[in-house]
Amino acid sequence: MIILGIETSCDDTGVSVFDSDKGILSNIVSSQVNLHAQWGGVYPDLAAREHTKNIIPVLDRAVREAGIELSDIDGIAVTVAPGLIVSLVIGISAAKSLKWSLKKPLIPVHHIEAHIFAIFLSEKVEFPFVALVVSGGHTELYIIKGFENYIYLGGTLDDAAGEAYDKVARMLGLGYPGGPVIDKLAKKGKEVIRLPRPLLGDRGKNRFNFSFSGLKSAVMREVEKKIYTKEDIAHSFQEAVVDVLVGKTVDAVEEFGIKNVVVAGGVSANSRLRERFYEEAEKEKFSIHFPPMYLCTDNAAMIAYTGYRRFKEKGTTVGYDFEGKARLRLDRFVEYINRK
Ligand code: KG4
Ligand code: ZN
Repeated sequence: MIILGIETSCDDTGVSVFDSDKGILSNIVSSQVNLHAQWGGVYPDLAAREHTKNIIPVLDRAVREAGIELSDIDGIAVTVAPGLIVSLVIGISAAKSLKWSLKKPLIPVHHIEAHIFAIFLSEKVEFPFVALVVSGGHTELYIIKGFENYIYLGGTLDDAAGEAYDKVARMLGLGYPGGPVIDKLAKKGKEVIRLPRPLLGDRGKNRFNFSFSGLKSAVMREVEKKIYTKEDIAHSFQEAVVDVLVGKTVDAVEEFGIKNVVVAGGVSANSRLRERFYEEAEKEKFSIHFPPMYLCTDNAAMIAYTGYRRFKEKGTTVGYDFEGKARLRLDRFVEYINRK
């Protein structure tokens, strides 16, 4: 079966062709990162305009590189939630046009679900597993009991982990996106300041929730004091973020007696986060799984693959009147796509 995947939920325009026999045939991502760098984050109107320019050339290249004809496609999978609505609708409209011209099924995919299931493109993981999704827009913890069987444990009450990285990088004058630069700079610093670990150790209703805005303000105060070097501030900040992400995930593993963990999304590329997770996995006896780097950040291969699973295992398709949603939690998504 051949599924075409489309991803436009944020600032990357992605199209991929996935073949259930041969794997990923093509995976094209057109990044707008240089454009948004001047704003220190994603500027929605600009993102939407870029998607309209890029979507057809990216689609054309993905089909050509896959060495197929459009008519070979058995279905079109598209990200329908969550994300910037002005960006989402461009991918959804392109997918609906393809459905209309090719007379092929349209399969809805949730962006977070795709980040999590991207792991299956590189290895097999046994259910159930704890999934930590950390990106520029999301920080969420789930138990994944099977395909379409999701339990939400918690998420961020304010900034996402990647957003905190990006904002701290801006304070330090390091450019955008902040994650990779801080990751590199932190290696040259020491933990000179013990910054707060927000909500870590909470045993109440915020046990599996996150909050990074207080940490960000604490970093701001240190930057303004002008005592410590950028390297030391970056290092201290990263230790705090990683402690919280690893600590809460390990707490979930212990509480629910789960043996496998999947970490996904752009921040999962972080070298210190990976190092700490490998250490904890050995100590606490769970297995840890990270998708390869090119599948961690936004891409359409994860959308095509997740769409393939949905179509094959559940047969779920949607019509021309289906609407995307800027906000929709993964555990409520299955009900949303199946409502009549
Ligand atoms: O998943 P993604 O590509 O896009 C979203 O869906 O948001 O994630 C982008 C985020 C950015 O905030 C970026 O700073 C962060 O991932 N990021 C990192 C690293 N590489 C990317 N954060 C920490 N360490 C990294 N090495
Ligand atoms: Zn993403």
